[in-house]
Amino acid sequence: MTQLSQSVTLEFDNDVALIRIDNPPVNALSHHVRQGLLDGMTQAENSDATAIVVICEGRTFIAGADITEFSGPPKPPSLQEAQDAMENCSKPVIAAVHGTALGGGLEVALCAHYRVGVSESKYGLPEVKLGLLPGAGGTQRLPRVTGAAQALQMMTSGDPISAGDALECGLIDEIVEDLESGAVAFARRAVAEGLPLLRIRDRDDKLTGTNSSLFDDFRASIARKTRGFLAPEYNIRCVEAAVNLEFDEGLKREQELFKDLMKGTQSKAQQYYFFAERAALKIPGLPKETKPIEVNRVGILGAGTMGGGIAMNFANVGIPVTIVEQNEEALKRGLGVVRSNYERTASRGGISSDDVETRMGLINGSTDMGGFGDCDLIIEAVFENMDLKKSIFEQLDEICKPGAVLASNTSALDINEIASATSRPESVIGMHFFSPANVMKMLEVVRGDATSDEAIVTAMGIGRTIGKTPVLCGVCHGFVGNRMLFMRGIEAEKMILEGAAPSRIDQVLFDFGLPMGPFAMSDLAGLDIGWDENTSSGSTVRELLCESGRRGQKNGQGYYIYDPETRAATPDPEVEQIIKAFGERQGVEQREISDQEILERCLYPMINEGAKILAEGIAIRGSDVDVVWINGYGWPMYTGGPMFWADTVGLAEVADRINHYGSTLGGEHWSISPLIEEIVAQGGSLSAYTN
Ligand code: 3HC
Ligand code: NAI
Repeated sequence: MTQLSQSVTLEFDNDVALIRIDNPPVNALSHHVRQGLLDGMTQAENSDATAIVVICEGRTFIAGADITEFSGPPKPPSLQEAQDAMENCSKPVIAAVHGTALGGGLEVALCAHYRVGVSESKYGLPEVKLGLLPGAGGTQRLPRVTGAAQALQMMTSGDPISAGDALECGLIDEIVEDLESGAVAFARRAVAEGLPLLRIRDRDDKLTGTNSSLFDDFRASIARKTRGFLAPEYNIRCVEAAVNLEFDEGLKREQELFKDLMKGTQSKAQQYYFFAERAALKIPGLPKETKPIEVNRVGILGAGTMGGGIAMNFANVGIPVTIVEQNEEALKRGLGVVRSNYERTASRGGISSDDVETRMGLINGSTDMGGFGDCDLIIEAVFENMDLKKSIFEQLDEICKPGAVLASNTSALDINEIASATSRPESVIGMHFFSPANVMKMLEVVRGDATSDEAIVTAMGIGRTIGKTPVLCGVCHGFVGNRMLFMRGIEAEKMILEGAAPSRIDQVLFDFGLPMGPFAMSDLAGLDIGWDENTSSGSTVRELLCESGRRGQKNGQGYYIYDPETRAATPDPEVEQIIKAFGERQGVEQREISDQEILERCLYPMINEGAKILAEGIAIRGSDVDVVWINGYGWPMYTGGPMFWADTVGLAEVADRINHYGSTLGGEHWSISPLIEEIVAQGGSLSAYTN
């Protein structure tokens, strides 16, 4: 065995050379891997071996370029040198894939003459998720193997395909049982049978006859999902180049577009997010040996909007659920909504009708909390009322087994106060799901003063099991996400009285990249959430709208009027009149407000509040705040989240504007966070701030 570089060795299995890569954790293409691969190819080609296998140690084949190298100057050799050595080798080169061949990893495999993989292996070009495109020839080679339509799908979604699908579309040549012996056997067969040294770059059989309308149809089909992102369009242009240009020309085009993306802010933001999401799972100070409790059955209290959705998350991964309501009628209604959600997914082909029954079979409805006795985790999702929640936790304390984690889905209430109703505050934690709970990936895990490490790792771990992105935070009103949202709400409310129509404010935020603005969001959630007919006194626009019978989308009228068929929203002049009259009664002066002012007054108080949240230690890191806003509220990922975005705008500039609004408009939410001032004075960034 020859050690070629710190991560690559060359060895021989008689007549077959094995270039073995071992660069934990995911065999990323760091410079020493590229060097080892290049040297290995040269030495193997010059050896007595008749064929060469490229294979990886550890949990996966090469998972792509080393993203940590993107921020520095390029280190030689280039990946292309190693790829050329493979593609032009005079002996058959076989890539042996296990785990995931992703990005640059798949692009390396595409330069082998043949590819084999184990049945669990996966193949993908996820660069689009990093705001990039496969810049190592992948955009030109993949379409030549799969055809343009499948390449478009894979490159713009970034999602990998299975070994079975890869075999079917010709991306791999064989599924092997044992990776190394299967690959070596394939290599020997290639030599024995004189299989041609296939270079994908020379093929065009899958591209001829590509329908010219494919690209625009495809653009239209992903337009909504990819609004604002640059990388999907750039990926499409590369596939167009593969269809319309010679290979080398296409490669040039790929390089130009790759460089363009690489120097832009979107890819920086998306790469930052890649690491932010992973960092959020790391909890400083937690002893390594802390083990989660095993969650074999989950109890959920309340089968309303949230409880039903939360139950679905567990049933979807095969964990049985006991869901308890206050009476049969509410239970029936709640379970009916769950069933119809599943049936809708089945009617669209997302799951089978058997799956619907299996999952419904895992959800056991009851009106008796006694059933929680054998649950390992209980999540309370009843009305947002402290007295009610405390009385429920008192009962849970009596019913639940010792060690069970008792969680509340409260959106803002004090977890410590809820915990005080029990004799075991160490078992009490917040698990704040976002609506619709079966869809939204965000999960704020709220640690109370007494919450145990075990309860924390259990909540974070089970969150991952059900496919959520958990972020740990501390107790404060509204936690990370809603506390920042409240600040935006204050300014949005004020601006409508000053003369900016709700639809205009919503439009500015939509154009910024958010899925909707505050008024469309209120209509969607229901204007009457927390509204009480008996105490309503016309003291806010929202109360006035509720008093005039407007409930939001659910009754077709809120800030907007909704088409009963299409649910399309139209601004309502009557609402604008109500607002105007209210503003006049309040003595608010009407004036012209620019789009920039709308944006600043909505987003800067959020940044300010985010900084206060960080300074108070409620969030662990600036990047955690960004993960919450991207996953919980659809903040555009290509800006990196509110903290990263503020850094991009320039924190000094943001601070100036906060101070400006503080002195002209006033209000606690405009009093500048000392942390922002500190960072501006000392240099640094909000997004990199860590407690
Ligand atoms: N570069 C550097 N570090 C990477 C990395 C990469 N490409 N991929 C993963 N890592 C790191 C992670 O940050 C993490 O580090 P940590 O333990 O310090 O937090 C560690 O490897 C393990 O990663 P995961 O926790 O994500 O492990 P999983 O087992 O859950 O997932 C994976 C493994 C599916 C490979 C996943 O890590 C992944 O999707 N990685 C990114 C793949 C990717 O985007 N590749 C394309 C890169 S761009 C490219 O290739 C450009 C080329 O076209 C020129
Ligand atoms: P909801 O009103 O839709 O559902 C609450 C359910 O709890 C009702 O079905 C009610 O019958 C049931 N319930 C009330 N008292 C009960 C009791 N003693 N025993 C059993 N069931 C009881 O409310 P929603 O929207 O599901 O909210 C639930 C909790 O989730 C609240 O704390 C809320 O703040 C929080 N939340 C709500 C979000 C949303 O967007 N709706 C988002 C995130 C959290």
